[in-house]
Amino acid sequence: AAISPEERPAYHMTPYVGWLNDPNGFSYYKGKYHQFYQYNPYDVRWAPMHWGHAVSTDLLHWEYLPCALAPDSPVDNGPGCFSGSATEMDDGKQLLMYTSVIAEKQPNGEMRDIQTQSIAIGDGLNYEKPACNPVLTQKDLPEGFSKFDFRDPKIWREADGTYSAVTVCLAEDGSGAAALFQSKDGFDWHFVTVLERCNNQYGKMWECPDFFPLDGKQILMLGPMEMLPKGEFHNGHNVIAFIGSYDQATHTFTKENVQLMDGGIDFYATQTTLAPDGRRLMTAWLQTWSDTEDKPKGCKWFGQTICPRELHIKDGRILQAPVRELDAVHGKRTFYENVTVQGETSLEGIKGRVADLTVTVQPGEYRSFTLKLAADADHHTSLTYDPYTSELTLDRSYAGSRADIVHRRSCKVRSQNGALKLRILLDKNSVEVFVNDGEQTMTAWIYTPQSADGITFAADGKATVTVEQFELNL
Ligand code: FRU
Repeated sequence: AAISPEERPAYHMTPYVGWLNDPNGFSYYKGKYHQFYQYNPYDVRWAPMHWGHAVSTDLLHWEYLPCALAPDSPVDNGPGCFSGSATEMDDGKQLLMYTSVIAEKQPNGEMRDIQTQSIAIGDGLNYEKPACNPVLTQKDLPEGFSKFDFRDPKIWREADGTYSAVTVCLAEDGSGAAALFQSKDGFDWHFVTVLERCNNQYGKMWECPDFFPLDGKQILMLGPMEMLPKGEFHNGHNVIAFIGSYDQATHTFTKENVQLMDGGIDFYATQTTLAPDGRRLMTAWLQTWSDTEDKPKGCKWFGQTICPRELHIKDGRILQAPVRELDAVHGKRTFYENVTVQGETSLEGIKGRVADLTVTVQPGEYRSFTLKLAADADHHTSLTYDPYTSELTLDRSYAGSRADIVHRRSCKVRSQNGALKLRILLDKNSVEVFVNDGEQTMTAWIYTPQSADGITFAADGKATVTVEQFELNL
């Protein structure tokens, strides 16, 4: 990979130094968005986990704060403080709930890491772990659930002030589940119900659950750990959402529909929060576990989150859009209307690696259309729309990354009167594509040299394109 260590994205969150994986504790607290994250401050690889911490007022520019949680004895003496979340308490303090991984001697004398849930309380800057930790252990789970996989609590407050949290857990027969817990005070927790199980259909085990209302529906969002059956859910390390309804009185979740949250390559560990204006915002890790070894040489930081997205429901599906804060930093606009493309074409002024680009394409007669990004003579990342198969393919085989990882994914898209609309967020080493106002998204990192800043349009037959690009004043 050829990216220089200095090439930090302009509007995506990265760790100042060290390693980042899952976003944690995504919340709005004391007038700022807080973004914690799985963090190793000492190296650009995973190691016993800390919680990094950053704040922002616009979800685009982040200010680094001191590390919020660190592994220590006795409850976080294993691989550290795993993923979790944040909410506000009645006294105005912020409550973090996370997975404490404890190195424990097993009856056969072997040391193994077990997973429990703990809390930490703070003021937005400093956090303390109370002596009552851990607050949830295997003893709180119904019989038959393992103590080795029980993690990633996502916490929220109910209308009456009750604290609720959903975690993932694993039955000893090997099937994963999402479980609901409640507490009156945030300290004393009890098991309520199993909301849903993997049933070997949606992965073998889940990670990073979230459970929230959205436009009259209830969403259970999860990261499946194992390869899913072929077909729509092809991605293994990706995120799925069950869209359904929830009966609060009986704690029964009924799923009606299931959706893959991103059809691209690098998207995992989502977490949502409510903005003060009521928007449901989602962030995610712009990476997956399968290709974290492809690092720029000499880099001092590694890992980034997506540009946060706003979620809505339309026709029973979740729509995703980049947060509208991005519109406020739009600078110079370059616009072309109904240009005919035949062969490969570039358009004056349409280029760059930090941009917000919208392309509406009307390909002729079932012939394919390709958009190349981050392009020069040796590199490109392509998006190919084939109207015959209704597939959009993201391909970074020529982006400059290692050969032995996944570089190509396709997803089915819907044309609107024969046209397809793509909004593309480019930010140095990542691309996020929103199809038809967010019906589908495709996300990937691209460690391509920054000098490759070309954008070209190629039609297999004849295509009509309308292109609108904004520079971002960040
Ligand atoms: C997901 C995950 C979580 C865990 C964390 C550890 O990417 O495996 O389940 O809490 O990462 O860093």
